[in-house]
Amino acid sequence: MHAALIAATAALGGLLFGYDTGVISGALLFLRDAFHLSPLMQGVVTSIALLGAAVGAGFAGSLSDRYGRRPLILVTALIFVVGSLVSAVATALWVLLAGRLLVGLGIGVSSMLAPLYLAETAPAESRGAMVSLNQLMITTGILVSYLIGYGFAAGGDWRWMLGLGALPGLVLAGGMLALPESPRWLAGHGHLADARRALQALRGTGETARAIEAELDGIEADIAREAKGRGRTSLSDPALRMPLVVGVGLAVFQQVTGINTVIYFAPTIFQAAGLSSASASILATAGVGAVNVAMTLVAIRLIDRVGRRVLLLVGLAGMAASLVVLGGAFLLGAGGALGWVTAASLTAYVGFFAIGLGPVFWLLISEIFPTAARGRCMGVATVANWGFNLVVALTFLDLVDGIGRPATFFLYAALTVLGFVFTLRLVPETKGRGLEDMEAAWAERRR
Ligand code: BGC
Repeated sequence: MHAALIAATAALGGLLFGYDTGVISGALLFLRDAFHLSPLMQGVVTSIALLGAAVGAGFAGSLSDRYGRRPLILVTALIFVVGSLVSAVATALWVLLAGRLLVGLGIGVSSMLAPLYLAETAPAESRGAMVSLNQLMITTGILVSYLIGYGFAAGGDWRWMLGLGALPGLVLAGGMLALPESPRWLAGHGHLADARRALQALRGTGETARAIEAELDGIEADIAREAKGRGRTSLSDPALRMPLVVGVGLAVFQQVTGINTVIYFAPTIFQAAGLSSASASILATAGVGAVNVAMTLVAIRLIDRVGRRVLLLVGLAGMAASLVVLGGAFLLGAGGALGWVTAASLTAYVGFFAIGLGPVFWLLISEIFPTAARGRCMGVATVANWGFNLVVALTFLDLVDGIGRPATFFLYAALTVLGFVFTLRLVPETKGRGLEDMEAAWAERRR
């Protein structure tokens, strides 16, 4: 199979992630009436998938270190299908909640397994682009969920909105049956012949046997080195301390800088800014979704050329500036031209997220940990990401009520500046390095 097709198949996990987190905002309007949801229960229906994702991500790491990446992705795809169908046919609230919890579990597992699998199967020089295909799928899933949401809105067909998530789940399951296990995982578990076969399948006929052997040797040497260093399998190993600080730190910054207040609540924000007509706020929301996809494409083109750090720093600086303008626009008051300043700064903010923190977070956490502990360490960072996603989703509306919109966005701006300093000081450049070579990247940063 062609390398890009392999990557696109594995990245379908991102499509489910994006679709299923995005679809709920549109569906909620109808679920509210169908299930007579109180504001509290609306919050529960929205966030139960995030909770499930945090739990799923917590299990995914050690399970995938143990049983392999591929079987777990397969099981996850099936969980998606079941969860989507259960939510779609629900007639009682608890069934809906159970379905959304299942979908959330699937999102959590696949949010870390898709980048993990992609990083472990991609050649070093194009790893950034390959892993970021996952983020492209996430943003595409969000955009599609917005469009489907509007498409079905007239008829109030929330069952179709939720049920359609089953489709990409089925495609992912089918696709994964054709894909090989990660050669790094196979080699690490002593299945060298299988690892060679998997590499051959991944690299295709264009690659000579010698190049395959060289890559396999690199993987083996890495695994042997890790084994000497006591396997680096305990999370308290001092060698894992800095990678964990960076991975978890970026996870927290990806969320506390506020991206999902826009992704989940864009129409509400636009209406508060004075774009009161439904069509203007729909147009603005779809625009935000499209810019998110477009700028992710730009990031994919740049990420293996200019490197991860530059994109992160430019992205964070741009996000901070956009948030200051956004807070300022709300400070001056809603309506008229200011409504459009709000829309423009919000769109710019999402664009800067999409060239930096969006793709680069998921990429870096798939790169910076040693193979033997990669699953578990990525799991820790991913749980932190979903946990803080939940915290922000649950506190945003209260923050707006309590301290007002300008102060809320200024708060996110201040946290973005902190993220900038964090990146400047602690995040290593990983561009072009073999996954086997990451310890050298850490050593360089220490110097
Ligand atoms: C984040 C999600 C976010 C999405 C927006 C992802 O990288 O993890 O929380 O909704 O980007 O594009």
